[in-house]
Amino acid sequence: MRADQTAAWKNLDEHAKAFSSFDLRIEFARDAVRAVHFSQEAPGLFADLSKNHWDAKVEAQLLALAQQTGLLAHRNSMFRGDAINTTENRAVMHWLLRQPVQGASYEALPPALKLPLKDVNDTLNAMLAFAEKIRADEHITDVVNIGIGGSDLGPQMAVMALQSFAMTGKRFHFVSNVDGHELYAVLQGLKADSTLFLVASKTFTTLDTMTNAVSAKRWFEAQGGTNVSLHFAALTTNVEAAGKFGIQTCFGFWDWVGGRYSLWSAIGLPLAIAIGAENFRAFLAGAHAMDQHFLNAEPAHNLPVRLGLLDVWYRNFLHCTSRCIAPYHSALKRYPAYLQQLEMESNGKQVDHAGQTLPYGTSPVLWGEPGTNGQHAFFQMLHQGTDVVPLEFVAVKNATHALPDHQALLLSNALAQAQALMLGKTHANGHKNFAGNRPSTFILLEDLTPFNLGALIALQEHRVFVSGAVWGINSFDQWGVELGKVLAKDIHARILSGDVAGLDASTAQLLSKIR
Ligand code: F6P
Repeated sequence: MRADQTAAWKNLDEHAKAFSSFDLRIEFARDAVRAVHFSQEAPGLFADLSKNHWDAKVEAQLLALAQQTGLLAHRNSMFRGDAINTTENRAVMHWLLRQPVQGASYEALPPALKLPLKDVNDTLNAMLAFAEKIRADEHITDVVNIGIGGSDLGPQMAVMALQSFAMTGKRFHFVSNVDGHELYAVLQGLKADSTLFLVASKTFTTLDTMTNAVSAKRWFEAQGGTNVSLHFAALTTNVEAAGKFGIQTCFGFWDWVGGRYSLWSAIGLPLAIAIGAENFRAFLAGAHAMDQHFLNAEPAHNLPVRLGLLDVWYRNFLHCTSRCIAPYHSALKRYPAYLQQLEMESNGKQVDHAGQTLPYGTSPVLWGEPGTNGQHAFFQMLHQGTDVVPLEFVAVKNATHALPDHQALLLSNALAQAQALMLGKTHANGHKNFAGNRPSTFILLEDLTPFNLGALIALQEHRVFVSGAVWGINSFDQWGVELGKVLAKDIHARILSGDVAGLDASTAQLLSKIR
């Protein structure tokens, strides 16, 4: 049933009316176990959801909403391999990429999925063997990943996040933008015979990536590089196109892996080279542990379910249009950008599965920067601005550096910000008054390990699944990116020819200035 037609939605609407007077400080004073009730352990992490604008009544109705919209049936469909990506008639099985080939979860797997899993496992073994070969090859000093969107953000985020596990002696570069400045700057520091280019593209047709790949190959040959098969590898579902491009070393994946969910596939090769096969397997194991949690934990203690439902509550009933992501670990610098694609490309939709326009809001805007940098930039607005923006902190207890003073200061800042947002401070001078009662979620990792990062990312994937399922949208297509691609092709031809006939006046004017 469509979310807004359920009884739970109506109840939530009623509850929301009372929320104009909701005050976190009063709730904590009233309820001695609030922090415990709204917190939980999940694989690889601990999450405190208690500083959010909700109470047990709201939570109960959100769980009812999940039930009335068939969330668990939809989740089970995904884990059964049904074609829940209805507009492309594809299954959604990125979770199969981290499925072990033995143990209880393997035994519980639908028999029809054991064949694709064998393929997954063979490819994983081949890819990890290649990663180990590159790690051992001292001649390769630079690895350049050429890819965009999911073929860039995931591996880039993860290589950066796990830099303390990365081998020394190799540099990793990520080139995504069709803007030649990016590739040009990277090429300046490279030598052809010590560079490995990874052309990462699910489709192997993406203009940005193909343009960069052609230029990289041209550069390689101009530098005297001869052995393309040694210095270029492709990560793609389109093995044929990679072959036509002249790349023989190819690691494939499958159309049931969405681009923004592909980090666990061959797209993860830069990460596998950086951290090695064993750590990459630990990364997959963390994600698998979260998959099992999502699949088996009862909804009231299921972290992706709780977070996804909270997202629905904020978006549709408290009318928050954005969520700020604040990682308190500089290695998680690209984590907000990664989550932007995950959430906004998945749930930035205005129609349901049947193509009918939805009467309620879907994906919020995600944005953010690592703390403490954000504190000295946009936190002013979060504390005293006119909009309430839910924040999501991610902090890591243990540092991997050896500097004595920093970690306790970093963590005290994270806690203090969450506290200040909630508690506020009354001051007679309005400029110095903090209204407080500003909501936040706090996710805590013991260490930033491959296992814990895998669990954190899978948690985010599944919470996006939960809100998307409740909204009744297809979280696994991305038709909204197509129009711009088509128009860019037309405009490109016009920039070359100067033809502005039939263009709107603004575009024609800009085009003339560009020529
Ligand atoms: O244009 C959007 C998109 O299709 C993303 O979904 C995807 O991650 C990105 O482009 C890159 O696509 P590909 O891996 O096929 O090059």
